Amino acid sequence: MSVAGERPCDSPGLEPEFGPSALGTKKHWDAVYERELQIFQENGDAGEVWFGEESMIRLIRWMERQKIPLDSSVVDVGTGNGVLLVELAKCGYTNLTGIDYSPSAIQLSQNVIEKEGLSNIKLQVEDFLSPSDELSGFQICIDKGTFDAISLNPDNAAEKRRQYVRCLCTVLKMEGYFLITSCNWTKEELLNEFREGFEILEELPTPKLCFGGRIGSSVTALVFQRKK
Ligand SMILES: C[S@@+](CC[C@H](N)C(=O)[O-])C[C@H]1O[C@@H](n2cnc3c(N)ncnc32)[C@H](O)[C@@H]1O
Repeated sequence: MSVAGERPCDSPGLEPEFGPSALGTKKHWDAVYERELQIFQENGDAGEVWFGEESMIRLIRWMERQKIPLDSSVVDVGTGNGVLLVELAKCGYTNLTGIDYSPSAIQLSQNVIEKEGLSNIKLQVEDFLSPSDELSGFQICIDKGTFDAISLNPDNAAEKRRQYVRCLCTVLKMEGYFLITSCNWTKEELLNEFREGFEILEELPTPKLCFGGRIGSSVTALVFQRKK
């Protein structure tokens, strides 16, 4: 499960870039979630959870260890099928919002949430790169695979990534937490992307792969805090 694009240039000193990919476009995600919505309507299957179940458990365990109050405002950026919101609600979190720029993803999330008998989760169709005024003051912002997708945008991805950091600063409260899970960026690269305005608090352990005698992670999960 990866939002993989080509990496034509990884040379030291140069900005890492991925090749443009359909996975960076709204058209792609609209088509994905229209299909997933249809499948849900046929057989009730919520569809793919990016990075697997353990990626949700990892985030929720961190929130529990930190004793994040259950009424903290949490936004899931690019929520997809909304399954992470369902898991958070089942663990007792009561102030949850999911956004996605794909209306079909939001419709699917709505259906998945209703099927679970949950009702007080807010869902909004929003492009995170131009958030509405409503989308502000969150204590926790979670991104699982969305920054990866935005990084693959065929239209000036570098500017889109900078825009993402600016928008994150408007959406997240001072000293709020930003939890990101990525399969396209290493820890060092993410530290560089979020160096302005954010400091790293923790790297969450992810499964390690061994290939050609080298050990590495296929997934990076970091917790940042927005600086005062
Ligand atoms: C790789 S999927 C991850 C979905 C979900 N977070 C998960 O972990 O299963 C990326 C998601 O980001 C959404 N997305 C991409 N760019 C976005 C943007 N600019 N604003 C809001 N959502 C976006 C896509 O529609 C898709 O649902």
